[in-house]
Amino acid sequence: MDRSGFVLKLFGLLLCLLPVLQACPQNCHCHGGDLQHVICDNVGLRRIPKVAEQTRLLNLQRNNFPVLPTNGFREMKNLVSLHLQHSHIKEISSGAFRGLKQLVYLYLSNNDISVIKMGAFDDLTELTYLYLDHNKIPDLPKGLLSPLINLFILQLGSNKLRELRAGAFHGTKDLRWLYLSNNSINSVHPAALDDVENLAIFHLDKNHLTSYPGAAMSKLRVVEDLKLSNNPMKIIPDLAFQSFGRYMETLSLDNMGLEKFSDKAFAGVTTLKTVHIENNKLSSLPGNFPFGRLETLTLSNNPWHCSCQLAPLRRWLESTRSRPDAACASPSSARGQQIRDTSALRGCKVPTKRSKKGSRH
Ligand SMILES: *[C@@H]1O[C@H](CO)[C@@H](O)[C@H](O)[C@H]1NC(C)=O
Repeated sequence: MDRSGFVLKLFGLLLCLLPVLQACPQNCHCHGGDLQHVICDNVGLRRIPKVAEQTRLLNLQRNNFPVLPTNGFREMKNLVSLHLQHSHIKEISSGAFRGLKQLVYLYLSNNDISVIKMGAFDDLTELTYLYLDHNKIPDLPKGLLSPLINLFILQLGSNKLRELRAGAFHGTKDLRWLYLSNNSINSVHPAALDDVENLAIFHLDKNHLTSYPGAAMSKLRVVEDLKLSNNPMKIIPDLAFQSFGRYMETLSLDNMGLEKFSDKAFAGVTTLKTVHIENNKLSSLPGNFPFGRLETLTLSNNPWHCSCQLAPLRRWLESTRSRPDAACASPSSARGQQIRDTSALRGCKVPTKRSKKGSRH
């Protein structure tokens, strides 16, 4: 090769590289074939950087974007994963994610988001995972989530939600895991859960519900894991879990000040494996409490009344390898004794499986 040919080739090579070099924003790292990953973690950005169109992952964590503007990511047609945690975001404009029709993962946790304009999630029809926990979101108006027709996981824990309105989840008909822990929810409209009948995991713990939202819950069909811990609820009513009773495996009702399960609270519940009811004011369990498949039960710190109504519980405690703490509070002769050991339950008749239907409580 002669000298001029070599220079020409070198020049050509540089020309090819030039757009690539330009494509990686200043202070960021880019890697993967065709710069598919752009990493700008904690580099003091105040504006969304320009990135190559072929970018599939954009990590903008720990920067400073008070407002996500309309069309801020418009050219990033091939983006699959967008990371925006810890970036002081306060507001998401309408059309903020417009053009992101391939986006599957969107991480917005640990910001100060209190304003999400209607239309904010337009175009996110492929979005499957949405993380919005640890923000200040006050409300979920009907229609806000409607574009998210493929959403599978929605994490909204540790926000400022006060109520779930009718149609709050309109459009998200494939939603399976919904986390609403640690908000201030005191009201769930009967039609709030109409569109999410396929929920498998539903966490509503650490909220302000004073009564069980039975009408809304009855729309759910396949809940496997329900968490209502740390809500100031006194009674679990009849038929509370019936619409998903054949699916529910884990139920968490601890730390609620719970005083009573209504007699038919567990109607239709057949597959429970794990139940948490510690730190309540329970003195008894209903006659139809489903011990059949139970593996784990935490029940300490309740004022259990040790009479024959607890005989099925005692039988279960005797059959399990674990030794959960469960002490009698009354009668006074049994106070402080473990339900498993107390003589107060000696001689109680435990209904056999066959005669269970007619069992006394
Ligand atoms: C619950 O939310 C508050 C703010 O609303 C937050 O400070 C706290 O860390 C959250 N708790 C957990 C366990 O995430």
